[in-house]
Parts: sequence; C-alpha cells; structure tokens
Amino acid sequence: MDIANLIRPDLAALEPYTPIVPFEALSARLGRPADQIIKLDANENPYGPSPRAVAALVRYPHYAIYPDPDQTPLRQAISQYIGQPVERILCGNGSDEIIDLLMRLFLSPGDAVVEAPPTFGMYSFNTGVVGGRVVQVPRDEHWRVDIEQVAEAVESSRAKLVFLPSPNNPDGSVLPRAAIEQLLQLPVILVIDEAYAEFSGHSVADLVGLAPNLVVLRTFSKWAGLAGLRIGYGLLPEAIIQHLWKIKPPYNINMAAVVAAIASLEDAEYLMGTVRKIVAERERVFAEIQRIDGLLPSPSQANFILMRVANGRAKELHQALEQQGILLRHYNKPGLRDCVRISIGTPAQNDTALAALRDWSAKEQLS
Ligand SMILES: Cc1ncc(COP(=O)(O)O)c(C=O)c1O
Repeated sequence: MDIANLIRPDLAALEPYTPIVPFEALSARLGRPADQIIKLDANENPYGPSPRAVAALVRYPHYAIYPDPDQTPLRQAISQYIGQPVERILCGNGSDEIIDLLMRLFLSPGDAVVEAPPTFGMYSFNTGVVGGRVVQVPRDEHWRVDIEQVAEAVESSRAKLVFLPSPNNPDGSVLPRAAIEQLLQLPVILVIDEAYAEFSGHSVADLVGLAPNLVVLRTFSKWAGLAGLRIGYGLLPEAIIQHLWKIKPPYNINMAAVVAAIASLEDAEYLMGTVRKIVAERERVFAEIQRIDGLLPSPSQANFILMRVANGRAKELHQALEQQGILLRHYNKPGLRDCVRISIGTPAQNDTALAALRDWSAKEQLS
C-alpha cells in the first residue's frame, strides 16, 4: 500500500511552515550554553512571566484534572481587562489556534483569504491546511496597506476573511483606525490581529460587537511573557462565536496556561511596567540603529524592529551575529530578502546586539 496516495494531494504539496530553531538545538549547534544566547528572533518578552504567575503555577493543586471546557474564570478575567462581555471571548492554545478555528469555520476548499504581505506567516499556512486560497495585496515600501486594493481583492476573489495584524509583524506598523472602519464596510470578516497591541496602545477591541464582521485577536505570549504556555483569545460577535464553540476541541487550553493567564491579569500593572520598559528600549534601539551606516530601521509600535540591510547582505549579517550567540530573524521571502528583524531585549542584551551590529557595519565598510 502506498501511503502517499492516501494523503490529501493539496496537503502533500503544502510547503512546511518554517518555525524558529528550538532554543536547546541552537545552544548545541552554537556550542554555547542557553544562558549565553541572546534570543531576539521571536518577539518574546525578555522579562519573562510575572512572578505572581510563576507562584500561582507552583501553587495550583489540580493539574490531574481536565480543564474547564467553557474557560469561565479566565474569560471573566479577560472581560474585566479588555472591556468586552464574557460572551464575546473565546480562548485558544495561543492566538494561533483562533486563526486555525476561524479558517475551519469559514473556508471550504478554494475559498479565498486576503492578507497583506509581508505579514505573519500563519494566515497563509492555515489557509493552506484547510485547502483555501491566499490572495495577497502587497504593502508599499513603507509597509502601508492599500485599502482600495484590499477592497478590490475582496470583491474579485469573493474572499471570506481578511487578516491584518496591527501592529504588523514583521515591521511593527499600526493600521489606522479609520482604515479599519473603512474595511469594515466590506462584505467580509475582518480579523485584526492585535498580538502586539499592548506595546502600541492602539486597539479596536471596543468595536467588536458594534461591527458585525469584526474579529480581534489578542495573546498573552508577548506582553505577559507566556509564549511557552500557549494562551491567546479572540473577541468575536455572537453570530461567529456560537459556531466556534461547536468546533473548538473541548480541552483546547491547558490548566497551567489558565492559571498563569489569570495571575498575569491580576498583576497587569507590573506587566505593563515591563511593557513600558520595552517600549522605551525600542525607541532607544531604533535611534541607535539609525546611526549605524548601512542599516535602515522601520519605525515600529511593537516589541521588535525591522531593518533593511543596504548592501543586501542580510543573511550574512544574521549569520555573523548568530556566531556571537545573538539571534535575529532573517526572512528568506520576496520583499524581505535584505531585511532582518530584532526583538527588543533587556537594555544589556540590546547593548550587546547594537555593538555587534556596529561592528558588522564597520567590517562591511558600509560607512
Ligand atoms: C501577528 C501575530 N499574531 C499572532 C501570533 C501568535 O501568537 P500566539 O503565541 O498567541 O499564538 C504572533 C506571534 O509571533 C504574531 O506575530
């Protein structure tokens, strides 16, 4: 029997998603202990979880019991935090899971999803998994979204979903509220992915429920430092959420994530203090990169900065820093080939990374 013949042909042909290399594997490859690696490649929070979240994880006594499929205490805590009723909140195994569930709910094979690259890779990945079709409306050189072109793409492809992050990953630009309000007039579900909203201070979470076609995604991975626990949520109008409940795996979020997320919300003031530190560092790092010859950073409202490498040697830059134990993200994609993205670390980590960038620029004789 040939198993390959049994695999769905569209999935057999699907490009695998390229995730970042696991920390331990990198540590072995670079021959450096993990604590000597400066990991600025995945927009993680350098301050980690709130100490109260860690204490709550240790204290919680019922890990042998399945989690609550209705996610009630966490949804209540999120409701307080975000100012939306519990009925519009659904938690996922990372906001990635909400993206996946939305695709499963709306797309039949061949249905279109509009995205504006360069952008977060999971939209096209998950569209492919359910046999959908990705329609791309590329951003301009300042990473701006052309609203008219999105409208045309929605109309001509009869798209069911539009995915736009704000701030966008990988450049950190925010989609103006007026543009979102314009897009909400289109006959399509508009998903605004606010994974980095806490770093920008901009959100359209308040519009969920007022507009029938708006979904907002949020996560605890970035501002609350819980990326490894996988916990995110969607804010959705009743007409959508009632169906998502039906297709959600009953125990999709684990109890450790629930405990840590609730404790994080109780300690939001502390966590927002770390967010402010990261934002201050982002501004400092941006100004410093601007002073380095041959590096052209994009203004960002998230916890990372994208920069173009003027001589096109972004891959070499990435490798040179990796050899020193400093990890950045390099993209091997059209539109981003000469770019690297740096996540904002602690001041000390940023200083080390900036020194390595200055060094590289000097060696490449970019001045
Ligand atoms: C725009 C965007 N959305 C969602 C996510 C994923 O978040 P989560 O960890 O909650 O799945 C990321 C992670 O990098 C992201 O950049």
